[in-house]
Amino acid sequence: MRKRSLRDVEVEGRTVLLRVDHNVPLDAEQRVADDRRMVESLPTIQYLKERGARVVLLSHLGRPEGRPSPGLSLAPVAEHLSELLGEAVPLAPDAVGPGAMDAVRRLAPGGVLYLENLRFHPGEESNDPGFASELARLGDLFVEEAFGTVHRAHASTVGLPRRLPSCVGFLVEREVLELGRLLEHPPEPFVVVLGGAKVKDKLPLVRHLRTLADEILLGGALAVPLLRPPAPGEPERDPAVEELLHQRPGEAPVVLPLDFLVEGPAGAGVATVPAVPLPPGARPLDVGPETRRLFASRLEKARTVFFNGPLGKVEDPRFAGGTREVLSVLRSLSGPRVAAGGDSSRALQDLGLESCFSYVSTGGGAALELLEGRDLPGLTVLPDA
Ligand code: 3PG
Repeated sequence: MRKRSLRDVEVEGRTVLLRVDHNVPLDAEQRVADDRRMVESLPTIQYLKERGARVVLLSHLGRPEGRPSPGLSLAPVAEHLSELLGEAVPLAPDAVGPGAMDAVRRLAPGGVLYLENLRFHPGEESNDPGFASELARLGDLFVEEAFGTVHRAHASTVGLPRRLPSCVGFLVEREVLELGRLLEHPPEPFVVVLGGAKVKDKLPLVRHLRTLADEILLGGALAVPLLRPPAPGEPERDPAVEELLHQRPGEAPVVLPLDFLVEGPAGAGVATVPAVPLPPGARPLDVGPETRRLFASRLEKARTVFFNGPLGKVEDPRFAGGTREVLSVLRSLSGPRVAAGGDSSRALQDLGLESCFSYVSTGGGAALELLEGRDLPGLTVLPDA
């Protein structure tokens, strides 16, 4: 899936509507708490600046549900980008209308401007044609650089590229390439490590990856419903969960934990319990030592790895060891080792494990939907290379 690249279009003298996913977390003082998504879009911004384009940044922040919400203004994000670029990046008072138009008109070649949060308008999420046309009037080229948002069919992701010449920016190009490595002839063995909280949320992902990978190592709270038999008097296990326990021809097996760490009785610290049979009422908080050895031995042989979701409650240092030990094995591997998903990249940053991977995606839902084999409307709409 190769899309027309920014390298293939003339940008000099053009006013570029650059859709970025600067939906970044803010701290209690309204300062940017994690700027990775912003930093990853800098090469595209710099490329456009150096070629004399006028750069108009479009982003959403949070979910203001179609109404202006002062706490979700892009002002702190614009301030942070000013620091990153070493020049003032003004913020237009609105995403459309006279205020936006005036701000764009004042922009000099090589200048950068933010429009205010797109989602202050209901037309953004409903992909309203009027709103998309108003946005389109502000520029003459659309560049899709918001990988984290390409799974949304919104005015700025689908409406705009239908109205303007379009291409992908360098970050989207790289995301598609790196995630695509997992989907198209990944070097084998291809081992998937999945954790997190809710098994039902991951079902579509497991279903698709099972057709591509050699093994799915399942940890975290995710694995528990597969290990716990239905309580007496309870209906059967959820059929969707049951499905994971059965391996159809051509599908990768799901490998379950052998043991877990749980919180011991008050004052007793941490205890290890078997996964089968899982003691009634046990609340697994990390994978245990036998599981760590098992998962690590499987990963040692892997030539492609995909990771999503921590294997334990990593925010508590007592339960971060499983994820840390298992993923540390990846440091000595050389094939594609890709991580994706909002919680995963945060956990990797906090645990200092990002360097174990060849690529950590900036996309949460978007990356997972791509790996589920779904069409992403914000990519489908863009012209092929
Ligand atoms: C994300 O953070 O995953 C993207 O910015 C998309 O945000 P959304 O889930 O609110 O559409």
